Amino acid sequence: MDKAQILVASNRGPVSFSVDDDGSLGFRRGGGGLVSGLSAVAAETDTLWVCAALSDADRKAASSAPGGRLDKAGFDLGGALVRMLDIPPRTFANAYTSVANSTLWFVHHMLYDTPNKPHFDADFRGRWDDYREYNAAFAEALVTGAAENARVAVQDYHLALLPRMIRGRRPDLRITHFSHTPWAPPEYFRMLPAGIARELLEGMLGADHVGFLSQRWADAFLRCCETFLRAEVNWGTRTVDFGGRLVRVGVHALGADGEGLRARAAADDVAARRAALRELVGDRKLILRVDRTELSKNIVRGLAAYRELLVRHPEWRGRVTHLAFAYPSRGDVPEYREYTESVQRTAKEINEEFGTADWTPLILEVNDDYPRSLASYQLADVLLVNPIRDGMNLVAKEGPTLSQEGCALVLSTEAGAADDLRDDALMVNPYDVTETAEALHEALLLPAEERRARCERLAERAVALPPQRWFAEQLRALG
Ligand code: G6P
Repeated sequence: MDKAQILVASNRGPVSFSVDDDGSLGFRRGGGGLVSGLSAVAAETDTLWVCAALSDADRKAASSAPGGRLDKAGFDLGGALVRMLDIPPRTFANAYTSVANSTLWFVHHMLYDTPNKPHFDADFRGRWDDYREYNAAFAEALVTGAAENARVAVQDYHLALLPRMIRGRRPDLRITHFSHTPWAPPEYFRMLPAGIARELLEGMLGADHVGFLSQRWADAFLRCCETFLRAEVNWGTRTVDFGGRLVRVGVHALGADGEGLRARAAADDVAARRAALRELVGDRKLILRVDRTELSKNIVRGLAAYRELLVRHPEWRGRVTHLAFAYPSRGDVPEYREYTESVQRTAKEINEEFGTADWTPLILEVNDDYPRSLASYQLADVLLVNPIRDGMNLVAKEGPTLSQEGCALVLSTEAGAADDLRDDALMVNPYDVTETAEALHEALLLPAEERRARCERLAERAVALPPQRWFAEQLRALG
């Protein structure tokens, strides 16, 4: 493949590398919802996936591959070529950790404790320059790697400036930008410095099509375009008239990959973990949660709700186990480190308060183990998904898809997944710990037959738009 017909740009790529003890490079699948959604793309031919080198091992891999391209032969990605960009570490840290994860993520998930943060000073503006530079590095790789009239799918808040940058250099390209996060309403987005708010929106409007996971996020984006750019929005066709072009805004509600998940869950390593979990939980009811330890996932309030369940309904003591998988995430952001500590502290307190010689009320696991997550989906009686705000949340879709006996889903109204699943989930306000505790109680009491029927309907909706079709829809939106 000389020049690609389809290009994907995302910060995190489909693989990450590690240096083994003997100095050789090992690799594994990248993590997170974005990569899960896009994994099918890695099998496509004629496709170039541009991503950032995220670690020294990635940098070593990127520099050892001819032209920075890691191909199928070495990394078994099916048809796609992966190009990892070796961005200078300081530029990368400022763009990724500071601007993307500590600022844009906080804005879109409305996570700030505003008396102290955010704080937009001269230092921040320096880091903003690095965010531009990081976007420009992607632009360079894309414009040189794209065939005439190729289609480019830019992913997420890390790369908001990219569509406009590539359009300026290659007007023949057809560009879509997709957000995997919520989008902040103008009343919150306005806390960004005015010039930066406009630059982000103008950057994204360089695309032909801008996609979101939920109508709520798409509408918030359109309202921001009206408020900050005075752009004309047609609410009937959901298009933005800006800079002499019409940009379409679409909703593509990513679903679970039912087929892929079921195939993976049939493997021996999952069966072994299932047997171990059965042993651990015995005949107690199993309440499960599976998250990356992110501020938006609301793990501490979820644990508090479990505690309140045990206080308000003591009949569950000794009869239920809460298994909480809280996998490490973004350890370079100080708020995440503090949050991880408070998750661990809360878990310990609950066990100290209620644990007995033969009952551990809460099992918190922090080591990422994908087959164990799949096994736990198969066994859970209740799945708790209570984010403060979430673009979609694939756990809410994957759990019912793999459930063997039918699990009840307790779901936050603030997850994009609520759009698809609200009819059969028990919906909760994520800030309301008492309501969440009562929803857990109700979920535990659902008659088996009703639970199974609800779970079947949840599973059906969960796989309505599997990743491959979700991606194809975005490309189709480009004509
Ligand atoms: C999740 C989020 C995405 C984000 C991705 C990467 O999937 O939904 O919006 O791009 O994580 O985050 P990371 O911390 O792995 O860089």
